Amino acid sequence: MSRVKDINLYKSGEQKILWVKKNMPLMNYIEKDFEKTKPFDGLNVAISIHIEAKTAYMARVLQAGGAKVTASGCNPLSTQDDVAAALLHGGIDTFAIHGVSDDEYNKLIGETLDFSQPDIFLDDGGDLTEALHTEKRNLVSKIRGGSEETTTGVHRLRGKEARGELLFPMMSANDALCKHLFDNRYGTGQSVWDGIDRTTNLIVAGKKVVVAGYGWCGRGCAMRAKGLGADVIVCEVDAVKAIEAVMDGFDVMPMEKAAETGDIFVTVTGCRDVITKPHFEKMKDGAVMANAGHFDVEISKPDLRSLSEGESEIKPGITEYRLKNGKSLYLLAEGRLVNLAAGDGHPAEIMDMSFAIQMMSLKYVAENYKNMENRVYDVPREIDDYVSALKIKTMGKAIDSLTPEQIDYLSR
Ligand SMILES: NC(=O)c1ccc[n+]([C@@H]2O[C@H](COP(=O)([O-])OP(=O)(O)OC[C@H]3O[C@@H](n4cnc5c(N)ncnc54)[C@H](O)[C@@H]3O)[C@@H](O)[C@H]2O)c1
Repeated sequence: MSRVKDINLYKSGEQKILWVKKNMPLMNYIEKDFEKTKPFDGLNVAISIHIEAKTAYMARVLQAGGAKVTASGCNPLSTQDDVAAALLHGGIDTFAIHGVSDDEYNKLIGETLDFSQPDIFLDDGGDLTEALHTEKRNLVSKIRGGSEETTTGVHRLRGKEARGELLFPMMSANDALCKHLFDNRYGTGQSVWDGIDRTTNLIVAGKKVVVAGYGWCGRGCAMRAKGLGADVIVCEVDAVKAIEAVMDGFDVMPMEKAAETGDIFVTVTGCRDVITKPHFEKMKDGAVMANAGHFDVEISKPDLRSLSEGESEIKPGITEYRLKNGKSLYLLAEGRLVNLAAGDGHPAEIMDMSFAIQMMSLKYVAENYKNMENRVYDVPREIDDYVSALKIKTMGKAIDSLTPEQIDYLSR
């Protein structure tokens, strides 16, 4: 029933999974614990996430906890076919193929849900959740709840909650401290530059890098660009974030102005139409653009096409748009998340923490769903405390504890 590109690709996928497993000590610990405690015993768990080595290992940890896991991608370009093959080869039903059309991608999500008949689920970006609210509504009565991985998915959930449309309880894993403080900032910060580097093989030092969005991810991308020697410009719509960027040492200006000077553009806002026609028209010949926000709508491809007399993939992951004004602009990874569509995503040690939060959040839903309402829940502070204490220990570090006198002093 599963659908992957070619199950014979499993060997290299398996090697990738083994490598990350060695570098995810929290997940190793949780896996051992789940083998004994089986928090998902008898439950069907559907996951929609970038199919790569770290998420594949996470699927296996869920399986160790007794879940019958069914996996699908959450982006048509981020699926790694060898990892999907390894998942299936290892006994996890998988519906994910790299490079499928948007229609086919949505079909794979639908097939995942039909096959899984999930009790709980994990989503990244909200497409699986959306399917459950539309064409797969028939599956909702069985659902205990789910957990959402990223900012864009949480925005979509909060929209549904505000409209009174949310059909089950959802945990906002993204908003846990041990998630966004590290994953969005340091994970995106490092992996975005890895994706850009391995695709373009161009120098960053001495270039003008424009980062649109100075949220958790944007801060990381700007910080790492600075570390690589770039002159960084930030574009924002929130004055508070803009002040922060200035005080962090970056120039701030509207995209209209930044477009004239930027060599490399990175969008990471979670919004749409951040770089559009008027900006493309002003850009320098040879400007490179990459997106790290969840959807491929931040850099307007329709606008790029309307200004172009031709487009072609001149190297894997680089599309050249030959504008009618004689200049060429280069878009990486078709404007999809550059770190995942043109790289391996966040470092294993970072996802170790994010997925520990996810495991504990799903366990929380599995155990507490009877007392939960159809709304978006923050991850309880105890889960953040548990994950951070475990992480600091696996890092070989220790911290101090408050004495009773100090606790008393602080509470007065
Ligand atoms: N690439 C990855 O691996 C990865 C990892 C985590 C999150 N994400 C995605 O990245 C996006 C940003 O996530 P975040 O956690 O940084 O969110 P955030 O809410 O912390 O930050 C977004 C920032 O963008 C700004 N912004 C919004 N619209 C804008 C516009 N039109 N122009 C300029 N700035 C604008 C907001 O003011 C905000 O400061 C989301 O889509 C999220 O899902 C990607």
